[in-house]
Amino acid sequence: MVATPRPLIAGNWKMNGLKSAGPREAKKLATRMGKVAKPQCDVLICPPATLLAPLRDALKGSRIAIGGQDCHGNASGAHTGDISAAMLKDSGCRYVIIGHSERRADHGESSQEVRVKADAAQAAGLTAIICVGETAAERKAGQTLKVVGKQLTASLAKGCTAKNTVVAYEPVWAIGTGLTPTVDDVRQVHGFIRARLRRRFRDDGAAMRLLYGGSVKGSNAEELMAVDNVNGALVGGASLTTADFWPIVATCI
Ligand code: PGA
Repeated sequence: MVATPRPLIAGNWKMNGLKSAGPREAKKLATRMGKVAKPQCDVLICPPATLLAPLRDALKGSRIAIGGQDCHGNASGAHTGDISAAMLKDSGCRYVIIGHSERRADHGESSQEVRVKADAAQAAGLTAIICVGETAAERKAGQTLKVVGKQLTASLAKGCTAKNTVVAYEPVWAIGTGLTPTVDDVRQVHGFIRARLRRRFRDDGAAMRLLYGGSVKGSNAEELMAVDNVNGALVGGASLTTADFWPIVATCI
């Protein structure tokens, strides 16, 4: 039997945070974590690239990992403005978010590109957090499982394992809106994703962590984290301060 995946609570700071406050917030979180004798979950912060080095230094010796928010599919080369997976690794990252819906929308990233990036991340020794999720219109049209299934098939590469891959289900309409699906809806989609992963990756698919993301906050984290096949959260707005983030972490700690 495959053991229940260890939860991961991941903060995605998006394009927020400056040196004046970011490292201080991260340190506060590390202090809270440090008081827990034996944490039952992993905690991650994905700051903007400009804060990777300051956060790495601020979190040295703590239990909190850092990650990137995107990477290029190539290892190096003439790609102005981009960052490679190896560079993230070199900056102290253990994870990288790939295919967030804001990247898919703002930068027109296709699932095929997401797969190339995930491959690059895994080759560099990072764990890729691969995001999938439907839009409001797709949900209204009853297309949720079809859309998520297609994204999964196309975004996940052959070499995905429980160690190098995390899948995040993030309904686009729930991100930054304060809206969340019902727990039944989350259970349905996560169950569907789990079945797909099991079919394709066998034991690795059973052990892969499946995060829910989209307007997770202290007040709804407990019920969301209790849903079958939810193994943690990808948190945007509520990850920016320790005051907001800690109650979410505390539901899994
Ligand atoms: P949110 O963002 O928690 O602010 O809704 C989640 C995400 O985009 O990862």
